[in-house]
Amino acid sequence: MSMPARHYLMCRPDYFAVEYRINPWMDPTAGADRDLALRQWEALRSTYQELGHTVSVIEPVGGLPDMVFAANGALVVDGRVYGARFAHAERAGEATAYLRWFIDNGFTDVKVPSCTNEGEGDLIVLDDFVLAGTGFRTDVAAHREVQEFFGRPVVTLRLIDPRYYHLDTALFTLDGRDIAYLPQAFSPGSQAVLRRMFPDAVVASPADAAAFGLNAVSDGKNVIINCAAADLQLDLKRRGYEVIPVEMSELRKAGGGPKCCTLEIRK
Ligand code: ARG
Repeated sequence: MSMPARHYLMCRPDYFAVEYRINPWMDPTAGADRDLALRQWEALRSTYQELGHTVSVIEPVGGLPDMVFAANGALVVDGRVYGARFAHAERAGEATAYLRWFIDNGFTDVKVPSCTNEGEGDLIVLDDFVLAGTGFRTDVAAHREVQEFFGRPVVTLRLIDPRYYHLDTALFTLDGRDIAYLPQAFSPGSQAVLRRMFPDAVVASPADAAAFGLNAVSDGKNVIINCAAADLQLDLKRRGYEVIPVEMSELRKAGGGPKCCTLEIRK
C-alpha cells in the first residue's frame, strides 16, 4: 500500500460552539466544551504531522462556530478549487472565507459554485471518480457542476437518514479504490449502486456509524478514526490498515468527527 504524504487544511475551533441546530446531533441547550475541543483538534493535527503529512491552517472567523469543519469549505483536485455554497444561512459566511484562503495562497483556478454544495462533506474523491451525496445539503445540480469542472465522473448517491446528512458521515474511502460505509444511510437504489461498485467494501454496523466511525481519514495506509467505533477498527486492522484512534467527543456534539475537520488539498 502506497502512502504519499498528504496536504490538509484545518481550522482551529477558536470560536467553536453548538449554538444552533442544523443536524440531529446538535443540542444548543447542552452546548460543548470549547477548550476540550481545542485540545482534541490539536491532537488530530499532531497526528497528521507525525505521519508526515502537511497541515495548513486557515484563520477562524468569529460568529462562524462550525468553521472548524474544514471539509465543507471546498473541493480541491488537481490544484483546482471548487468553492462551497452552504445549505444553511448559519454557515453561509464560511464559503467566502475558504475561497479567500485559496486565492491568498496562490491557487488561481478557483470556481465560485452556482449550486448548493458543502465541499468534501458530500464529495468524496476516489482515484477514478467522485462519489457525491445529496438529500440534505448538496444539490444534484452541484454534482453535474463538479463533473464538468474537474472532468471526473461523478456518481450521485442519495442519503436518507438525517443523522447522516453528509456523505462523509456514512462513507469513507480506504485507498482511493474501495470504501467503508453504512448501507442503511442510503436509498435502496443507491445501496444497490454501492454494492455493484464495491462488492468488497467494509460494511459498518449502525453502532459504529453512530459513533462517527465512518467520518475517518485514510492516507491509504493509516486510518485516523473516532476511537468509539470499536468493531470497525478491528475490520480495518484485519484488512491491513494501521488504525489510529482519536477522541473527538466535543466536535461530535456538533455532528462532526476527524474527517469533518480535514480538507484535503490535492495538487
Ligand atoms: N454542525 C455542522 C453541520 O451540521 C457539522 C459539519 C460536519 N462536517 C462534515 N463534513 N460532515 O453542518
